[in-house]
Amino acid sequence: VAAPPAPPRSEVLTSDPANNVSEYIYSKMGTNLHLQPDHPICVIKQAIYDYFEATAPGLFKPFDGLHPVVSARANFDEVLVPADHVSRSPNDTYYVNADTVLRCHTSAHQTELLRAGHSGFLVTGDVYRRDSIDATHYPVFHQMEGVRVFGPEDWAAAGMGATEFAEKELKGALEGMARALFGDGIECRWVDAYFPFTEPSYELEIFFNGKWLEVLGCGVMQQSILDANHPGGSGKKAWAFGLGLERLAMVLFGISDIRLFWSGDERFLRQFKRGDLKARFKPYSKFPPCLKDMAFWVSPNFTENNLCELVRGIGGDLVEEVTLIDEFTNSKTGRTSNCYRITYRSMERSLTDEEVNSLQDRVRKAVSEELGVELR
Ligand code: PHE
Repeated sequence: VAAPPAPPRSEVLTSDPANNVSEYIYSKMGTNLHLQPDHPICVIKQAIYDYFEATAPGLFKPFDGLHPVVSARANFDEVLVPADHVSRSPNDTYYVNADTVLRCHTSAHQTELLRAGHSGFLVTGDVYRRDSIDATHYPVFHQMEGVRVFGPEDWAAAGMGATEFAEKELKGALEGMARALFGDGIECRWVDAYFPFTEPSYELEIFFNGKWLEVLGCGVMQQSILDANHPGGSGKKAWAFGLGLERLAMVLFGISDIRLFWSGDERFLRQFKRGDLKARFKPYSKFPPCLKDMAFWVSPNFTENNLCELVRGIGGDLVEEVTLIDEFTNSKTGRTSNCYRITYRSMERSLTDEEVNSLQDRVRKAVSEELGVELR
């Protein structure tokens, strides 16, 4: 597959009043970790593709190069995300303009691929979400979506009802995938969940390293999505799943910090190879962190996601974590004070005091100028 290039700058960083995409986010577009051979994100992707190809030859068509800039319609409306759902908020999603977003999940491609007549597909790509900052959250990550459509002959042959059949197929396929990745002995359990686009909906959890871990979300596709989009329409039934590749790779390979995927460091990359699911990441060094606290009176429209966006924009991948460590409201004035701790740490080298102080000075200046808060 040809890697999709980054879209032109002018198409993403527009002056539209609804635009909330930053230079930092734009700089990540077109990297396509899922298409870099031997990158752990690509290794997991390929292992899942290989599993589906081995168990159902030719049934799942892979799509690795779909453009991450999509319509809000496809990302939300067409997959039945309610008008008041939090994920639509510009605090959670990157908007290019009011009608166009950076996809926040690969489910954004379900309807176009159904309309194109596909009955089985796997979509892998970069997805974008505004969020807090810590070792497992990064504003860009990679998801894989899987969809399989059945016809009446399929559930008739099994002597089952349509939904019951789709659910059984779904669970069988995904438990098989979990075994293919984590080994035959892996313990799985199904937890009831909610997604607007599936009913019933489940999360798959696996018991790994002594803990139950959520691996993916899935369910039987809402019939109205199928009816409105698939040429076979109302006679069909489908299942869908979506999973985060970083999360799977971190669990399977023991990768401790999500920024490592983006570092390009040879000491990281050389530890992984296509087809090798047995690799366990050996940390090569851990440089000392540098902690900086910052207290301010919040403004009415202050949000943690906005703060994190701003800190990332200045500190880039040197920011490891942003945590609220203290919060109180003055009973006389009613004003609320937050104290945030920013942890700076490079994965490649020791940071100097001057460098961190200068980043922190810029952060302090920007929060007071751009977030309307009052530093204490
Ligand atoms: N899109 C969901 C998410 O990002 C995952 C999902 C996909 C769930 C398909 C069900 C079916 O969390």
